[in-house]
Amino acid sequence: MLRSLARARRVLFIGGKGGVGKTTVATATALAAAREGRRVLLVSTDPAHNLGHLWGCGIGARVRRLAPNLDGLELDPEQTARAHLEEVGAALRKLMPEHLGSEVDKHMALSRETPGMHEAAMLERIAELVEQGDREHDLLVFDTAPSGHTARLMALPEMMSAWVDGMLHRQSRSRHFGEVLRGLGRDDDVGRQAIGPMEGTRAGATGDPTDARDDRIRSLLNRRRHRFEHLRGVLADRERTAFVIVLTAERLPVLETLELHAQLQRSGIHVGGLVVNKRSPLDAGEFLAHRAALEAGHLGELARSLPGVPLLELPLLPGEPVGRDALEAFSARLPG
Ligand SMILES: Nc1ncnc2c1ncn2[C@@H]1O[C@H](COP(=O)(O)OP(=O)(O)OP(=O)(O)O)[C@@H](O)[C@H]1O
Ligand SMILES: [Mg+2]
Repeated sequence: MLRSLARARRVLFIGGKGGVGKTTVATATALAAAREGRRVLLVSTDPAHNLGHLWGCGIGARVRRLAPNLDGLELDPEQTARAHLEEVGAALRKLMPEHLGSEVDKHMALSRETPGMHEAAMLERIAELVEQGDREHDLLVFDTAPSGHTARLMALPEMMSAWVDGMLHRQSRSRHFGEVLRGLGRDDDVGRQAIGPMEGTRAGATGDPTDARDDRIRSLLNRRRHRFEHLRGVLADRERTAFVIVLTAERLPVLETLELHAQLQRSGIHVGGLVVNKRSPLDAGEFLAHRAALEAGHLGELARSLPGVPLLELPLLPGEPVGRDALEAFSARLPG
């Protein structure tokens, strides 16, 4: 199921509870697709990156070649958020009347601490990668953070589009950016759409510089909205995108899987499959056989709750699949 998803889709998200094997499964899937000749980008969106740990090398925020046809990237939320705010601040200062400059600074300082700031910045990067991905890679595999974080991230494009809509509406009523700024419920948006070349202020139709600014703001907001709508469209397109939930066959990971599945469904995201990792062997002693039986009980519950969602089981290995050779071997064991 993983291989067929990796063959047929352009974007895969790998999610699930902490420690179940998301990064390992994401890597194995990416390697399998790369071996088949797809150009793959493996992206970690988990603030506590372990992609580099698994590969035994530093990866970081620049695209790095990991294997033939496979590139890797770790998005750093701290750095992404900082860069994002710097751009926002610069753009806002250009758009605002000069006497409001200190208001912009105050706003930006507060924004740094806003809840959701990191997620918003990450989402922006994901949107960029999805847009670029169409050109440079055939498949994007996102190794995501543990469930709760990712579920919120997946709901964001819709919220952000709605928020931008609200801003546009407000702006058309007020026609003055000062008011829009004062009404900023969320920190980052207005300026963020201002990324890109900013030419000098051009007078609007009336020749009034305030009109020119308002036109500029409107067009930036619209650009921003298109970006989120594009991402939302990609996320909701089950021909293009699938979400894979990784779990172990234990009580809590099963419950968390059901919860994540429900949250994703509410966000309109298709769950393409469930990967049950670290299945205990039946033939390696009584202890593990007992565990295997317990696991089978939990999986029965899962299958009853989510009938029709493809499910793949991967065995518990005696060692940890760490380093390129072990990851290649793990990947080679993925069923076709
Ligand atoms: N099938 C397996 N057999 C044995 N060990 C495994 C298996 N799959 C993963 N592991 C090991 O389990 C640990 C956790 O795996 P991994 O880092 O992929 O999980 P994760 O879900 O990405 O964790 P986190 O939530 O911390 O990002 C790692 O040490 C990994 O090598
Ligand atoms: Mg991980």
